[in-house]
Parts: sequence; structure tokens; C-alpha cells
Amino acid sequence: MDASDALRTLEEELERGLAGMAGASTLDELEAAHTAAVGRRSKWAEVQKGLRSLEQDDRKAVGQRANDVKNSLDAVHEERKQSLREQAEGSLLDADAVDVSLPGRRLRPGSLHPLTAVEDEIVDVFTRMGYRVVEGPEVETDWYNFQALNIGPDHPARTVKDTLYVDVAGRSDLLLRTETSAMQIRTMEAQEPPVFIISPGRVYRRETSDPAHLPVFHQVEGLAVDEGITFGDLKGTLLEFAKAMFGENARVRLTPDYFPFVEPGAQMAVSCFICNGVGCRTCQGTGWIELLGCGMVHPAVLENVGYDSERYTGFAFGMGVERVALLRAGVPDMRMFVEGDVRFLEQFASAG
Ligand code: DAH
Repeated sequence: MDASDALRTLEEELERGLAGMAGASTLDELEAAHTAAVGRRSKWAEVQKGLRSLEQDDRKAVGQRANDVKNSLDAVHEERKQSLREQAEGSLLDADAVDVSLPGRRLRPGSLHPLTAVEDEIVDVFTRMGYRVVEGPEVETDWYNFQALNIGPDHPARTVKDTLYVDVAGRSDLLLRTETSAMQIRTMEAQEPPVFIISPGRVYRRETSDPAHLPVFHQVEGLAVDEGITFGDLKGTLLEFAKAMFGENARVRLTPDYFPFVEPGAQMAVSCFICNGVGCRTCQGTGWIELLGCGMVHPAVLENVGYDSERYTGFAFGMGVERVALLRAGVPDMRMFVEGDVRFLEQFASAG
């Protein structure tokens, strides 16, 4: 390399470097152009290395020019870098910009499922009376679901016709609970009286769905045990419940019924809230709508959990949430609650 070659190379590289950086539209492109012009592998670097082989005067002149070229390229590099950064920030701001004059987007808030809403409503009536909410497992044992509830080995309620058993290694006593009554036992086992609990939850039966039945449905169980609790307390409590759910004019009727875990057992009906007891399609002309099973806790059940049945008495009741929801809303088919058709569900959407 002689001095004039070197100087020419420097001029060419200066021009090329400036053009490259001017054409860069991103920071990456700019860095690449700058490195190509003055980086370790650039022609500019080669000239630097070649200085040693030049005569002293030439070395000085070429060295001086090489420094100037580098300073110019560095200066332009800094300048371009600054302006490309500003551009990038500007476009970020553009992307974030909000046009406050656009019309708002209509929010479509979700709402509670009608079954959840009714279950909450039922539970609330009792929590206002001082009952405590308890929830329990859906996979239950034979003891809690049957035996402790006075449902003996031969009772028809426990046949495989109604009950879904769970097949877990080596255990034959597991099943999907068929009623929330199982929570009576779990609660009483865990505490001494007084007991005032309400227990909502899912239950399972081996059943084909039809307009009035689902294989998976919901119940709310209630239990009150203390000294001196009477059938009158049961009736008064259920009357308060009926009024809270169906209006101040609601009346209740108790007729004898059988459930293994209560004695006496009863069926509670509420005066028809559509026709107020006159007789209509909803109450099938009777003026009454059967709503729930109830009764005085069977002494054998109290003894099963270690309570003194001479000292304590109590009442229990259990109702189907689907049935209450269906009756109240005049829904013709229970299956509609689980089909997930938005057109059906939207009719229950409330402001809340
Ligand atoms: N568990 C009953 C059922 O599934 C309902 C029931 C009846 C619950 C009487 C009770 C009761 O607590 O005392 O049909």
C-alpha cells in the first residue's frame, strides 16, 4: 500500500460509510453500516494497520486523514442514532395513542347462573337466621351417605339403581353422594350441639334426565340440633323460609312422609305462589306445591354421631335447587338449566 492508495481508500470509505448510515432506517441497520465503515474488519482498519510500512511523512499524513475520517463517521453515527431513537419512541407513542372521540365499547357483563342465584338466595335466608354454611365432599363413603343416616344395608334407597359407585383401588364403600344429608353426619361428628347449619351442594343419581330429573343436581340441606327443639320450631322455620322466598302471603303445609333419618318425617308444601292457592296449572289445580322433605332427626342418627338422644332433639330438611328454580321461573324442563343455551340463560340475567 502506498500513501496515495491509502488516501483514496479513506475517501472512498468515508463516502460509502456516510451513504450507508444515511440509508439506515433502523438502529440495527445503522450499527451495521458504522461497523462496516470503521470496524475491525473494515478497509479503514486495514489502512490503520498499513501505516507502519509507510515513510514517516506519509504515515503522518495518512494517519491524520484516517483519524479525521473516523471522527466524521463517528459524529454522523451519533447524530443518526439520536434521531432514529426519537423516531422509534414517537411511533410507540402513536401506537399507544387513545382517540377519546371514538364511541365507547358496550360491555357485556356476565351474570350468575339461575341455579347459583337461587341456591344463594335459599342459603341467604338461613344465614340471616343464624345458620352456618358448610360444604362437603361429593365423593362420599357408605357410612356418611347411608349407614349413619339410618339407611340400613337392605334399604331400597341404596340400590345400585339409584347410586353411582366410585371404583377406587381396593375400596367398595365409595360413591357419589346421593343427597346432601350426608353433611348432617360430618357436621355433628365434628362438633357438639347446638348445631345450626345449611349445606348446599351437588348430588348424583343414576338416572336418565327428563323434564323433572337430572342425574346431577343440587340440594340444600338444613339441620338444627339443640336441647328442646320441637316440630313447631321446624314448622315456624319453614314458614319463615317460604315467606322469604315466595312472599309474605305464603303458607306452608306439612303432610306425613317417610325418610329413614327423620321421625316423624314430613313433606312440606307451599301455597301456590302463582294462583295463591286457588288452583292453577303450576300447582296442578291443588293450590299447593311440594317443596321439600323434612322431619325430626331420628334418635338413631343422633346416637350414630355420639349425641345423647335423650338430651338433644333436632330437625332437618332438604330441598332440590333445580325444583325451586324451575317452579319460580315457570321453566317447563329442568334440562334447560344445564344445556348452556345463552338465549335461555340471558332471561335470568339481573343487574347484579
Ligand atoms: N335427602 C332427601 C332427598 O334427597 C331430602 C330430605 C328429606 C332431607 C328429609 C332431609 C329430611 O334432611 O329430613 O330426597
